[in-house]
Amino acid sequence: MNALAKLLEQERLRLETAYLSKNVVDSWRMRFHIMPPVGWLNDPNGLCYFQGRYQAFFQYAPYGVDGSDLKLWGHYSSEDLLHWHYEGAPLLPDSPYDCHGVYSGSAFIEGEEAWLFYTGNVKFDGDYDYINAGRGSATLRVPLLRDLSLGTKEVILKNEDYPDDYSCHIRDPKVWKETDGYHMVLGARSRASHGAVLHYFSDDLAQWNLLQEIRAVDGFGYMWECPDIFPLVDEAGKEWYVLSISPQGLERGLDKFQNVYQSGYFLLEPDVVRVAGQTGADARQVLELDASTFVEWDYGFDFYAPQTFADENERRLLIAWSGVPDSDKEYSNPTCARAWQHCLSLPRVLSLKEGKVYQNPPEELLSLRAQELLFTLDAQANVATAPIQSTVVDSLCFDFVLSAIQENAGYFEIGEDLRFAWDENGCSLTHLSEAGGGRKTRNLSSLSLQSLRVIADASILEFFINEGAAVMSTRFYPAAEHCEIRFQSAADARLWMFGK
Ligand code: FRU
Repeated sequence: MNALAKLLEQERLRLETAYLSKNVVDSWRMRFHIMPPVGWLNDPNGLCYFQGRYQAFFQYAPYGVDGSDLKLWGHYSSEDLLHWHYEGAPLLPDSPYDCHGVYSGSAFIEGEEAWLFYTGNVKFDGDYDYINAGRGSATLRVPLLRDLSLGTKEVILKNEDYPDDYSCHIRDPKVWKETDGYHMVLGARSRASHGAVLHYFSDDLAQWNLLQEIRAVDGFGYMWECPDIFPLVDEAGKEWYVLSISPQGLERGLDKFQNVYQSGYFLLEPDVVRVAGQTGADARQVLELDASTFVEWDYGFDFYAPQTFADENERRLLIAWSGVPDSDKEYSNPTCARAWQHCLSLPRVLSLKEGKVYQNPPEELLSLRAQELLFTLDAQANVATAPIQSTVVDSLCFDFVLSAIQENAGYFEIGEDLRFAWDENGCSLTHLSEAGGGRKTRNLSSLSLQSLRVIADASILEFFINEGAAVMSTRFYPAAEHCEIRFQSAADARLWMFGK
């Protein structure tokens, strides 16, 4: 460990220990979602199953809550995707290629070997715009050793290796293997300010050549962050590739692109991904996508930069940051006053049906269901309409399921703070009080609600709609843990409180 790393490590430990020693009781800290020990968290990084455990790294800034401080990779591991053990922050910005932040990246496992790939951020001193000049965005790799410590960092691509017509905003490597060799995608912004993915190929994980540029026909935002490409097999047994991106610069709408930045996917035919054999090292191909086929991963308030990985059971799991960059202009997150900010999403199991990626909580979550609560019928309910039922929970850690919904209008409410409503036009998720931190409504149109599962964990709510056909996520900060849950719907309803 070099002298700079020692200082960064000491300061992280000092801040974490100072926070822990206060024994703060904070009802907004989650039980089973990954959150920062103290300070700021953003993207999930280096997700993998390695050494018999789930490994989840994350963008971590223990030095402050607002995201402007130096980024490290924090690390948790888990046996079951629910009980996460904090492992410290092994990847530090301590080299000339990453001294202003170890930015996002992925893990790649092959047999007993594992690597972390990431972006080293450097801001050079001078009068630069830091878009087209003044920023180093090297791609680095570092071995992840069996004891989960890290080997020596190595630069595999520098700014000068990227195409000339690209800006310095190139980052977030995701690496995977095909039968022909290794592939890597990087998120990018061209000098002309169109978002794109740069797709590289390698025989040995060390030397990388550009294969193709992936972009949208008529443009689609100015920057695409955190790309991921992975296979999924549909219900007919046909293989597809999913290209996930987090584009910035799309025009916001009332029922699409409702947040400041987005995350979603395109479905690709396998032959446009497995192009290695068809291109020479210098030939640059362009794969143009139809932007109208982009599908958002989540229609709520808090979701960005998802990353996927396959586990030992060949499940494809997705974890995202339950937050959005730059949303502080329209949202004041009250946990900042409690010395931390943000969390990662619940891991979602992906499957492909009817041309759409379904996302559902992992079945491990069933093991947390403890006490089941019953509902009381509201005495004032009008017999002509669906019944209103309610119950009181003593913490916001529950699993609520509505199935076989019979009417095309209804609602689910938490106290006087939040309302999820549906009718023949779709669903809406609305914050009614300060518990939303200043946010109002998100809409999901053209959908008829048949089932709903709400997973609540202290200060996050994730609404899984129609068996995972769509998801809406929101952070939620109720004044009291004790609250009434109410719904109006002719449906089967069950509610379990989560145990530890
Ligand atoms: C996405 C992102 C990445 C970058 C990281 C820095 O939220 O901007 O593109 O690597 O965060 O923290």
